[in-house]
Amino acid sequence: MKLFKSCIELLLIIGLLASVHAHAADAYAANTDAIARGKYLYEAADCYSCHGGPRESQNGKASAGSALKLPSGGLGLDTPFGTFRSPNITPDKQYGIGAWSEAEFKTALHDGIGREGEYLFPVFPYTSFSKLTDRDMADMYAYIMTLPAVPLPNKPHEAKPPFGWRSLLIFWRALFFDNEPIKIEEARGTDWNRGNYLVHAVAHCEECHTPRNVLGALITSRSFSGNIGGPDKQNAPNITPDDKTGIGSWSIADMEQLLKTGMTPDTDSIGSGMKAVVQGTSRLTDADRHAMAVYLKSIPAIHVDLPPPKLPGQSAAMQKEDSMLEKIAAKLRQLKFW
Ligand code: HEC
Ligand code: HEC
Repeated sequence: MKLFKSCIELLLIIGLLASVHAHAADAYAANTDAIARGKYLYEAADCYSCHGGPRESQNGKASAGSALKLPSGGLGLDTPFGTFRSPNITPDKQYGIGAWSEAEFKTALHDGIGREGEYLFPVFPYTSFSKLTDRDMADMYAYIMTLPAVPLPNKPHEAKPPFGWRSLLIFWRALFFDNEPIKIEEARGTDWNRGNYLVHAVAHCEECHTPRNVLGALITSRSFSGNIGGPDKQNAPNITPDDKTGIGSWSIADMEQLLKTGMTPDTDSIGSGMKAVVQGTSRLTDADRHAMAVYLKSIPAIHVDLPPPKLPGQSAAMQKEDSMLEKIAAKLRQLKFW
């Protein structure tokens, strides 16, 4: 009888252990799945290309086991408003974001608000990342927390006054920032909707290819029509399907090829900032590159004389938009904000 009781106990214990093990295995599988998804998105979003250190520096070198730089910060991003330095987003508890909760990380991406409640500068393209889904942000966080921590302090921005004053961003945000999610358009099909999401929320193509107004905000009425002097003074071409001034002659396959290999239909290899973008998109699945190409083929064609005009030659509506912004800027200057 005693032996029988012990046997039952033993069986119960084995059963219990097995179920604990199964639960742990489930949690582990769910977590590795999240980390893999997060890595995929992090690479597609090019987080490392801004947050990596300068190439020649120790921290700018590729991390062990990966061709990509660790996001330990320090890279100078030149803009018309001064030079901004990307912060360390490795999981270092003191200098990076190792002590940040998942919620704090999401607030930075979704709302452009830092850990101390401060407004973040839109040179960090949260204007695009605010469209990321909750799950995609959670998975990116899970992945970033697996990277090696780099104990490197942040360098201060060198912004021209008043553009370094965070509190002023309250006006900018009121004028130009919305974090509404991207609307699904059922009638356009799965590829188009996935492409729309990847192009805008993840790969943030507009941040370079859409012209900006005097306050540095995207002029969405001219989306993808090219920008002179984008980040790091690069000229990003018109990528709308306009036959003469855009890439109307490119097929969907041509776009897939560029995003995979960096080759244009003229078999030129792509240069400047676009090289880093392709480093990210080359890691996507064929299906995701196809979805992006389908979406990009569908955007409205915009005809611009090359190089993209600053003021002369713009339509009356565009000029009005720009001159209104000039007026706001002048007013702020008058009020000694500048
Ligand atoms: C175009 C360059 C650029 C890209 C791409 C970029 N960032 Fe940043 N990021 C910045 C800059 C610059 C700041 C600093 C903003 C500030 O000081 O207000 C920043 C700030 C942050 C912060 C706040 C850190 C802190 O210490 O306050 C987080 C978190 C962050 N980025 C995560 C990401 C993630 C995740 C990605 C990819 C999805 C990404 N960034 C892509 C430039 C970039
Ligand atoms: C960091 C800024 C930046 C981002 C982000 C960016 N691009 Fe570019 N893109 C450029 C620059 C600069 C060039 C010009 C490269 C050259 O002349 O070699 C370019 C060139 C191109 C071209 C070639 C156009 C032509 O006429 O030859 C295409 C197509 C293109 N980009 C599509 C995209 C797509 C799609 C995305 C989003 C996945 C994207 N770009 C994101 C900066 C950027």
